[in-house]
Amino acid sequence: MRKQNKITLREFKKNDLADESDIDILISLICGSFHDVAKRFELTKENCPKFVAFYTKERLSGDLEKGMKYYILLEDDQPCGCVALEQAKPDVCYLERLAVLPKYRNKGYGNMLVNHIFKQAIQLGVKQVELTMMSKNRKLKNWYKKFGFAQKCTKKFDHLPFIVAFMYKDL
Ligand SMILES: CC(C)(COP(=O)(O)OP(=O)(O)OC[C@H]1O[C@@H](n2cnc3c(N)ncnc32)[C@H](O)[C@@H]1OP(=O)(O)O)[C@@H](O)C(=O)NCCC(=O)NCCS
Repeated sequence: MRKQNKITLREFKKNDLADESDIDILISLICGSFHDVAKRFELTKENCPKFVAFYTKERLSGDLEKGMKYYILLEDDQPCGCVALEQAKPDVCYLERLAVLPKYRNKGYGNMLVNHIFKQAIQLGVKQVELTMMSKNRKLKNWYKKFGFAQKCTKKFDHLPFIVAFMYKDL
């Protein structure tokens, strides 16, 4: 019989952090998951220092300071993915830092993390979930569309060498 993996979700928010190693786990999940995206779209620390693949402890601490909640997915107690939720307005929240390490992909974990954010958002009484992504990442855009996300607009920022797509889903 196929072994059933134990899947758990751990929540991290400001003051939940036991020590610095918690931040290290999140950084390794984020950077380790976005590494192949950076490679595919030729983004480097030099041409796009703000890209998530180059996330830093300082930025992560800043996220927690402003009240962002991080969720870490564990497979058999091993961190394999994460996602963050930021309540931007009383009725809108952002889904951010969705990341599943390459070796854990295509097992439905990304799906699980997105649905977890929907669940949390509903509990918060939020009416809309928003996210931003690289507009030219078609495969990812189509994947988000399967959850009911639609594109609101696109925008070019001076500090990013790609066009950003703003996606939303009404709950
Ligand atoms: C986007 C990302 C989070 C998806 O994670 P994932 O765990 O592979 O996602 P899922 O497994 O839920 O879904 C991916 C595919 O696996 C398939 N799948 C879902 N459940 C599955 C299962 N139980 N068994 C096998 N395949 C499955 C899905 O059909 C989907 O395929 P599709 O593109 O044809 O729809 C991951 O690729 C990633 O971290 N990418 C880099 C970071 C990134 O781009 N993040 C988003 C920033 S906006």
